[in-house]
Amino acid sequence: MKAKRRVTTAKDVRVAARRTPTVRKVKPLLGSAPSPSASPAPTRARSVVARPIAAHDQPAPSVAVDLSVDLGRGLVLTNPILVASGTFGYGIEYGDVVEVDRLGAICCKGTTLKPRIGNVPPRVTETPGGMLNSIGLQNPGVDAVVDKYAKTWTGWRTSVIVNVAGESVGDYVEVVRRLDGVPGVAGIELNISCPNVGKGGLQFAIDADAAGSVTAAVRRATDLPLLVKLSPNVADVRPIAGAIADAGADVLTAVNTLSGIAVAPSRQKPLLGNIYGGLSGPAIKPVALRIVYEVAQIVDIPVVAIGGVTELADVLDYLAVGAVAVQVGTAIFADPTLPVRLVDELAEECRGRGLTSHRDLIGTALPRKPGAPSAKGVEYRP
Ligand SMILES: Cc1cc2nc3c(=O)[nH]c(=O)nc-3n(C[C@H](O)[C@H](O)[C@H](O)COP(=O)(O)O)c2cc1C
Repeated sequence: MKAKRRVTTAKDVRVAARRTPTVRKVKPLLGSAPSPSASPAPTRARSVVARPIAAHDQPAPSVAVDLSVDLGRGLVLTNPILVASGTFGYGIEYGDVVEVDRLGAICCKGTTLKPRIGNVPPRVTETPGGMLNSIGLQNPGVDAVVDKYAKTWTGWRTSVIVNVAGESVGDYVEVVRRLDGVPGVAGIELNISCPNVGKGGLQFAIDADAAGSVTAAVRRATDLPLLVKLSPNVADVRPIAGAIADAGADVLTAVNTLSGIAVAPSRQKPLLGNIYGGLSGPAIKPVALRIVYEVAQIVDIPVVAIGGVTELADVLDYLAVGAVAVQVGTAIFADPTLPVRLVDELAEECRGRGLTSHRDLIGTALPRKPGAPSAKGVEYRP
């Protein structure tokens, strides 16, 4: 199965990809992320990609770094650091603490046709290396989102991508129709990890046909840049990613949360009111990395990585497995200033390597022949 559609930045770089060993290091748990007040002044982050020792000793040449990312259909981000849906509200809430205009893009809270009050509490709990949430897509509905926020978005330099959820193909299409042409809305990200009432509650994201159908229907409804978010809760994401790309998505985002539960301290019931929650944070990074690695090799549309980004090393890892950009999610709760700091650190990392663009860092850990099994056994084997 192949879903090659058009040449992308990732492909350009992959063609020239070279395999570069990575230096492993132990990641701190999310809880140990520095608080804004405790965080040191931005310093040059330690590189995770091995290079000749001598290169470290060279003074960093002063080069202009182009961090822009072309996601297709006219959506060009100033840099590859986005904020993930559900962790940054509608952006406006963070205006006093974060220079929102310095973000590559904001993926706003999941938006549905009608307002939703969300799931019964408790709705969040901490886990080792992350958290479980079952917010249940609480949101005021698409019309209120447009009325309340779109005008402010038009004044921002950063692109706002509206994350859209629904229970039927018709829901998705209607929400997207209402967003189409609204000034301030730069793109759509489909959250397809929702139960499809038409298919008896089966999630769109775990079925290639359902994922392809909803993508195709939304594609017909809008010319806005269309990002579709993959679920990690499948045995093999590749057929689903292929179906979405074939159906006309411009970008794949990977991944949404992993399904999990926690038990109440009484041990008499599950902890979350909804029983099930979505696991996010550093704990899911290896899973997300594997999925980006697999998907980047079979589609020709850009892949944006999401999952457990807490520091520059995570960004570099995701670029190495073929992502053109990353979204920061759960880590924002510990430090809302992290995404902007990552923009600076990535630019500094490129400068330190004498690179004029982060594009040279993309795909370096992929097999030499995209889509073909590697002779060296680095490809994923279930
Ligand atoms: C509290 C919370 C709410 C979320 N809400 C949404 C949502 O509305 N739509 C969506 O597509 N993803 C949602 N997500 C998933 C994130 O966008 C992201 O895919 C996931 O958390 C993995 O990234 P992370 O490990 O950096 O947090 C939510 C995550 C969290 C923690």
